[in-house]
Amino acid sequence: MPNWLKDAVFYEIYPQSFNDTNSDGIGDLQGIIDKLDYVKSLGCNAIWLNPCFDSPFKDAGYDVRDYKKVAPRYGTNDDLVKLFDEAHKRGMKILLDLIPGHTSEEHEWFKKSCEIERNEYSDRYVWTNGAFCGIGGHPYIGGEADRDGCYMLNFFKSQPALNYGFLNRTEDWQKAPDDPACIETREAMKDIMRFWLDKGCDGFRVDMADSLVKEDDENKSATGKIWKNVREMLDKDYPEAAIVAEWCDPGQALLHGFHADFYLDHWGNGYNTLIRDYETEGGDHSFIKKDSGGDIMRFLNDYLPRYERTKDKGFISFITCNHDTPRPARTLSNEELKLAYAMILTLPGVPFIYYGDEIGMRYLDVRTKEGGYHRTGSRTPMQWDNSESRGFSSASKDKFYLPVDSSSDAPTVEAQEKDPSSLLNEVRRLTALKHEQKDLQADASFEVIYAEKEKFPFVYRRGNLVIAINPSGKECSANISAKANVAGNPVYTIGTASCDSGKLTIAPQSFAVFG
Ligand code: NOJ
Repeated sequence: MPNWLKDAVFYEIYPQSFNDTNSDGIGDLQGIIDKLDYVKSLGCNAIWLNPCFDSPFKDAGYDVRDYKKVAPRYGTNDDLVKLFDEAHKRGMKILLDLIPGHTSEEHEWFKKSCEIERNEYSDRYVWTNGAFCGIGGHPYIGGEADRDGCYMLNFFKSQPALNYGFLNRTEDWQKAPDDPACIETREAMKDIMRFWLDKGCDGFRVDMADSLVKEDDENKSATGKIWKNVREMLDKDYPEAAIVAEWCDPGQALLHGFHADFYLDHWGNGYNTLIRDYETEGGDHSFIKKDSGGDIMRFLNDYLPRYERTKDKGFISFITCNHDTPRPARTLSNEELKLAYAMILTLPGVPFIYYGDEIGMRYLDVRTKEGGYHRTGSRTPMQWDNSESRGFSSASKDKFYLPVDSSSDAPTVEAQEKDPSSLLNEVRRLTALKHEQKDLQADASFEVIYAEKEKFPFVYRRGNLVIAINPSGKECSANISAKANVAGNPVYTIGTASCDSGKLTIAPQSFAVFG
């Protein structure tokens, strides 16, 4: 386990929309380098960079044409190495986005695999042996290649599935996961990892990490075997490198070798009920939403088993949002966002802040771009200052990758820097607290102290700290003397709280940490 992960707070950067330094209307690597001090000032000591590789961008770069080449619109491989170096100088880490399940249909491997004549890439993707047969319920394309076969898709039409084999085989074109062709696919991915690790990257966020072997069993044992093999390589040759899964089942991902796994916005799961419960019948019942009728037990019933099963194996990663998810500011007020981030930054595991969430950037109603569809509204340019371009780019506005939030009250870094009570400054105080307190590190112990169905507050312990949150609009109290012994004033507060003879009292919409 890389030790740095324990104190890591990640910042996710969607490179298209962060900072444009060459005035072409799209963000670039130099733009990220120029803002490293800002990211550090947020208390974020690690970055997850969305795909920055050569691509036709039919899925924002999740359709890779060349894994070993930076997309020219972002810069060069040397610029990426410079980003690694500049980050390291500041004690920061960079995770790249690894997409192991599929490539772009424009990748050289795929073009070769479409040829009639057999070659070393014929089995790199999942192909049937006839252009007229389906592919067992999976999405597929037939009739596009001279080769007499259909190929499987892993996501959009532009993303053919790489071949890691089938655990349960019913057709003769299905290869076993230990077939030499499937092992070669795995080794090709490891080669890409080594390529960037040798240049200084600190690890990978892994796209659809659970999607490799098809007709895998319920436990994903065959896909898991691949990741264990990858982890062996890392442990041996790159022990400081981290891998974070997009799996959303930490019980599987961490068992199969990942250091961390995202707790994603999956309908009805614990994370969803905390801050993103807006599709529930009868309105938004998110726990963090003021007077929404939220219930902490809906979170705990889902989270606690996941936590208990994985606490010694790795970390669950809470996110403020990501490039696939509506911005939290779509449904939460600034006060609610402060409380949401306070929880995300004080629960166990390794937290991720999505660029712009630190100022409460909004979800915008914009036209789809690069396969974004409804996701595009969370991918708009970062709002640095109060100028018309929001400081994102000096290109003319019609060249901007996506429109900026031009509303007169759009949140900006410039405005929030000056306001001590801004969301931005709350985030800074929270991350500073997290770094100061060993008990807030990813692996420090966690115990529920007070949680009752449909009641407030929620009180939990991290190491020797006792943390209380009351998102409701009414003052509330809890007797915590049986499980915790705190007295006096808290060491950190949003709002107000106190504890007297074991009775904790906390004001509406408040959060407190007792030392
Ligand atoms: C998950 C990524 O987060 C998403 O943006 C992408 O479209 C799919 N995987 C396909 O790679």
